[in-house]
Amino acid sequence: MNHKQPASANIVIFGGKGDLAWRKLIPAFFNLYTSGFLPKQFSIYGVHYEKMPEKAYEAYILEGVNTFSQYGKATNKEWKKFAAHLFFFEGDFTTEDTYRRLSLLLNQNDKSWGGRAVRLFYYSVAPRFIEPISLQLAQHHLASDVHMDRIVVEKPFGSDLQTAKELNQLLTKQFREKQIYRIDHYLGKETVQNLMAFRFANIVFESIWNNNYIEHVQITVAEHIGVGGRGGYYEQAGALKDMIQNHLLQLLCVVAMEPPVSFEAEDVRNKKVDVLKALRPLTKIDVAKNIVRGQYSEGKLDGKKQAAYRKEKNVNPKSTTETFVALKLFVDNWRWKNVPFYLRTGKAMAKATSLIVIQFKPVPHNLFGEKIVTDTRPNQLIISIQPEMETTLLFHAKEPGVQMKIKPVEMDFTYKESYDTPVPEAYETLLLDVLEGDATLFMRADQVEAAWKVVTPIMEAWKKGTAPRFPNYEPGSWGPKAARELIKEQGCEWTLLPENGVHKIKFKKR
Ligand code: BG6
Repeated sequence: MNHKQPASANIVIFGGKGDLAWRKLIPAFFNLYTSGFLPKQFSIYGVHYEKMPEKAYEAYILEGVNTFSQYGKATNKEWKKFAAHLFFFEGDFTTEDTYRRLSLLLNQNDKSWGGRAVRLFYYSVAPRFIEPISLQLAQHHLASDVHMDRIVVEKPFGSDLQTAKELNQLLTKQFREKQIYRIDHYLGKETVQNLMAFRFANIVFESIWNNNYIEHVQITVAEHIGVGGRGGYYEQAGALKDMIQNHLLQLLCVVAMEPPVSFEAEDVRNKKVDVLKALRPLTKIDVAKNIVRGQYSEGKLDGKKQAAYRKEKNVNPKSTTETFVALKLFVDNWRWKNVPFYLRTGKAMAKATSLIVIQFKPVPHNLFGEKIVTDTRPNQLIISIQPEMETTLLFHAKEPGVQMKIKPVEMDFTYKESYDTPVPEAYETLLLDVLEGDATLFMRADQVEAAWKVVTPIMEAWKKGTAPRFPNYEPGSWGPKAARELIKEQGCEWTLLPENGVHKIKFKKR
C-alpha cells in the first residue's frame, strides 16, 4: 500500500510447484511484474523436493498464469522477460543441504546486484513443514536481517488456540514479529480495503455507525461450489475453522473497529484486535441456541449432479464435518452494545456471493401510515465484497405522481461502472505489501490467537455434544432451515443484493 519499492528482491516459494503457487502466487507476481511493481533486480525460486527440468517448470507455471491471471494469456514477450527471473529449485524442505545451497545463491545475487536484497520466504506448505523450514532458515542466517527479510505464512494458522500459540512461539523464537506476515487473503481484497476507505474517509456514515442507528449486521460468504478435490484438508477443518475463524471474523473486525490513530500497521491492527477481544464469549447455551451447522446432501448444482459431502473424495462416509455455519455474535463495547452480528458461510450454496449488510433501525415514528408507505423495509447498506463488487444504499423516496406513495429506491456504486482500471487480485496487493514491508493487512500473533479464542467454545461444545443429523441442506439452497430461524427471531431475513423491483439511482463514471 505504501509503495516503498525495494531495489532488489529474492523471492523463495517453499511449495513452488504446489497449487497455490500455480494458481495464485506466481500469476500475481507476473501481474505485478508487467504492471511495473516489481524491483528491477529480482529472482523467484520455486522450491520443490522432486527434480524437474527448468523448461518444464517454466511451461507448467506459464500454464498457471495463462489459466488464472485476470488479464488473460501472457504475451510471448512479457513471459520471456518474466521467465528470466523465475527458477526451479530442487530441495527437500527438511534437509540442510537445501538451505546451504539457497544461502550461496541468495548471497551471490546480493553481490551481483550491488547490495543486500529484500528476502521473501513464502511458506506455501503443509503445516508440518513450518517448523523445519523456520529452524533451517534461522540456522543458516537466511532471514536474519530484521528490516529486509520477511516470511509469509499461509493458513491454517494452527488448528486451535493451543496449536496457534505454539506456532506463534516457534516463529517468534526464530524471527521478529515484524518479519512475520500471516496471510488472510480476504484482507487483500479490493472491496475489503475499500470498507476502510468507506468508513474512515467519509463523514456521513460514521455518525450513524453505532447502536443508536444500526439494528443488526449480516456477513455472508456463500460459495457455490462444493469442496471438490479438497476433501482431505476440509475434513479436518470444516466451515468454522476454514472460514469463520479467519475470513469472516476479519470482515467483522473491519466493520466494527474504531477509527485507528493512523493508517500504520500497528494502529490498524490494534483496533481490529480490540473488536475480537470485545466479542462476547459464547456460553454452552449460546452455542446450542445461536450456532447452526450444516452439511450438504446429494443434489443438483446448475443442473449437474452434486455429490453429498460424505461422498466427496477423501471424506469419511459418516463425516460430521460442517460445510455450513451460521452464528450470532455480540461485540460488547459502547458502539455495538446489543447489536447482533449474524455471520454465515457455506459450500454448495445457491450462489457465490459475499455480502456485508448493515440494517438500520426503523424511523422512530411513521408519519405517513400504511397506505403511503406500503413497503416498510428498513434502510439498508449492502456492501458486496464479491462477485458484484458494489455498494448499495436502500432508502425510501416518494414515487412520482399526484398522490403520496413512498417506496424504497436503491443508490448504487459499482466498480464496473465507476472505474476503467482493473481491480487487482488480493494476492497481488498482499505480495506487494510484503515486498514493501507493510504489514497493515496481515494478521499479528495476538489477532490470530484472539480469533481462535472466539471459536474455541464452539469447537469444545461440538466435540462434547452429539453430532447433528447430517446432511441437512441441499446443494443450491441457502443452508439449513435453522439458519433462517436464527435471524428470524430478530424479525429479519438474510439479505441479498436487490435484483429487480427496486428503482436504481446510479453514480456516473467520472
Ligand atoms: C480459503 C478456504 O481460505 O478461502 C476455501 O480455504 C475457500 O475453502 C476460499 O473456498 C474462498 O476464497 P475466495 O477468495 O474464493 O472467496
